[in-house]
Amino acid sequence: MDMQVIPVKKGDFNLKDYDRMRETFSWDDMKQYFTWNHTGKVNMAYEALDRHAEDPNKKDKIALLYSAPDREEKVTFGELSKESNKFANILKNYGIVKGDRVFLFMPRSPEFYKAFFGILKIGAVAGPLFEAFMEQAVRDRLQDSEARVLITTPELLERVPQEDLPDLENIIIVGDLKDESDKYIDFKKEMEAASDEFEIEWVDLEDGMLLHYTSGSTGKPKGVYHVHNAMIQHYATGEWVLDLKEDDIYWCTADPGWVTGTSYGIFAPWLHGVTNVIRGGRFTPDDWYQTLEKYGVTVWYTAPTALRMLVSHGEDKVKNYDLSSLRHIMSVGEPLNPEVITWGIKAFNLRIHDTWWMTETGAQLIVNIPALEVRPGSMGKPIPGVEASIVDNEGNELPPNQMGNLAIKAGWPSMMRAIWNNPSKYESYFINGWYVSGDSAYRDEDGYFWFQGRLDDVINTSGERVGPFEVESKLIEHPAVAEAGVIGKPHPERGEIIKAFITLNAEYEESEELLEEIRQFVKTGLSAHAAPREIEVRDSIPKTRSGKIMRRLLKSWELGLPTGDTSTLEE
Ligand code: WTA
Repeated sequence: MDMQVIPVKKGDFNLKDYDRMRETFSWDDMKQYFTWNHTGKVNMAYEALDRHAEDPNKKDKIALLYSAPDREEKVTFGELSKESNKFANILKNYGIVKGDRVFLFMPRSPEFYKAFFGILKIGAVAGPLFEAFMEQAVRDRLQDSEARVLITTPELLERVPQEDLPDLENIIIVGDLKDESDKYIDFKKEMEAASDEFEIEWVDLEDGMLLHYTSGSTGKPKGVYHVHNAMIQHYATGEWVLDLKEDDIYWCTADPGWVTGTSYGIFAPWLHGVTNVIRGGRFTPDDWYQTLEKYGVTVWYTAPTALRMLVSHGEDKVKNYDLSSLRHIMSVGEPLNPEVITWGIKAFNLRIHDTWWMTETGAQLIVNIPALEVRPGSMGKPIPGVEASIVDNEGNELPPNQMGNLAIKAGWPSMMRAIWNNPSKYESYFINGWYVSGDSAYRDEDGYFWFQGRLDDVINTSGERVGPFEVESKLIEHPAVAEAGVIGKPHPERGEIIKAFITLNAEYEESEELLEEIRQFVKTGLSAHAAPREIEVRDSIPKTRSGKIMRRLLKSWELGLPTGDTSTLEE
């Protein structure tokens, strides 16, 4: 196909006049600026990479600034475009076609991004998995998605239960193979041999692009399915909310195993052709400040947990670094404490802009933007093209200052299009035309939204979503544990920590060692961030007559709150 590149006209979507924009803006108007408007076909990888690689002024610009303790690498748009072509050719050789699921289970590295775009270029659906996942978490996701190919490292390979994954035909290994058998595909070798030319698979806006697994309060993790159309909103929010300009050095601290690390760690910055800092390895306050200083980061997207950690290390630490290039900071994932905003003004001389959205929403919806006044403690206002409200359980809108379900009028561009293999779960999100988020909030008279909490049992620990059911299921696999109920317990730095209540099987005695062993069992079997920090042994776990664990009751007991209606409690 002969592609005519029509660059998006930057500056057309200026949010200085937010109120007018809210009235006049329509997503359809925005589509005219993208290439697909002229061809009808699209590919995120083209818009985010190849378009810049074809532009003589952009081709040699640094796309990826990778930094890890033991490795530093710069990759230009031209190089990343060619390298991802190579990877797409590898996938093609192994018979991967449009719509197939190809998963990545590896730490952030240049190879990750090359492979990721290769997957999109062939029209396959990418499934990034957080590197901390252990066997159970990996099994659940690969089984449910029926992934045909997995890209991983020699270190993580042992957590991939290959015998339980009949659909997984090939494993591509990034790094030195311990086992020289031809059971695995060597990334490096195949990349060396592959052609760097590839005819991109042009897809429809509604074709699948990404599968992000996330947790709810019941059942296994759910595959949230996103399509190429999401790019419209990634682009728009990249301009309105991230405030990206041509020469920005942008850093999003999230891992691509979580939605922030794809929507805003990959798509938004690269749709704008901006240099993107990717940091591998573990984080410490000094490493973070060094990263900001060394690369001259101008726009920084991070999370409240991280910011609270920085606060606890004090303002003096900041003064050791020259952070003068920084001009815009944003936060997502949990409530952003007003005190952190106040601290940010002292420490960085900048406001920290809270943003609200979810895996299911694919992109930011309620935000603080540079052009608006920040009310510390509020998530801000909906972006143009998005209608947000507070509704009751029947989907009727509630007046200002009344708490209820935070809901969004269905139909924004980056909205999930399905829950993989689970249509009824997908349906259950929508009431009366509203997408109901599971968060409770209220809206003030001026249209600012204020987060109040989760309405379900989902735990948010250090900004990471954990489903209590997954943890409970793992706990009861331990021979000592008879029953388990898991809750989130408020914690000043982490937002919440995971607390488990368990009953022991008759032949087991409670001891420090046993509880630690159980904790380790979850940590090594499921994932580190899902391991309960506190375990309490009880004689029984409260359940409804139909056998559901009453986590609300456990939580009320834990927090010394009134227990409310317990009429369904089992005798
Ligand atoms: C919570 C992350 C308060 C919320 C992008 C939501 C927030 C869940 C905020 C989604 C915020 C996200 N203030 N709470 N600004 N942003 N949350 O799917 O409970 O990992 O439902 O997506 O995080 O988490 P998820």
